[in-house]
Amino acid sequence: MLDTLINRVSCGRLKAPAPTKEEMNQVFKAALRAPDHKRLMPWQYIVFEGEKALSELGEKYRLACVSEDPAMEPEKQERSLSLPHRAPMVIVAVAKARGHEKVPHIEEVLSTGAGVQNLILGLDSLGYGAYWRTGPLAFNEHLKPLLGLDHNDTIVGFIYIGTPDMELKAKPIPEVDDFVSWV
Ligand SMILES: Cc1cc2nc3c(=O)[nH]c(=O)nc-3n(C[C@H](O)[C@H](O)[C@H](O)COP(=O)(O)O)c2cc1C
Repeated sequence: MLDTLINRVSCGRLKAPAPTKEEMNQVFKAALRAPDHKRLMPWQYIVFEGEKALSELGEKYRLACVSEDPAMEPEKQERSLSLPHRAPMVIVAVAKARGHEKVPHIEEVLSTGAGVQNLILGLDSLGYGAYWRTGPLAFNEHLKPLLGLDHNDTIVGFIYIGTPDMELKAKPIPEVDDFVSWV
């Protein structure tokens, strides 16, 4: 267990097969056990799997980009279309923070981030790869309604998922003493 946490690395080159629905259900159970102040459960995960769904996501990316920059060159529009096809599955992870008198907004976003990490670690333990991305599209207000989201929602990440298509090399672990102090 601790080995999985210490040795996990992101995987930027992903191929089919994606995890099965049954495997994803298990992994989502881990995501839905994220620490969550006042049990607000502010999470939403939107799964795009397979060529058709990924193309739909690409078209949403393109429309959002063009709404932000109507003069966007066709080549850049093409790039938006192709972005989701870097993996056989992309999950849009969303914090639907609705507020609570005892829970500051950031805690709901942090809870969603913790859920994403559980999801990624769960995938790793099943032998799948993942890459957590954001970029300008995560902050593009035009994309939210295209995904059925409200403007109050926070896109925490686009999680690219699949079978690793590269050798995953362990990364150096930072010096604990540089980040931890004991009193
Ligand atoms: C909230 C968040 C957003 C990120 N967005 C991007 C991104 O848009 N592009 C990118 O290359 N890496 C992004 N990363 C970093 C990668 O997911 C990854 O952590 C990084 O490349 C280091 O690799 P490692 O996880 O193997 O240490 C993001 C990480 C987090 C936590």
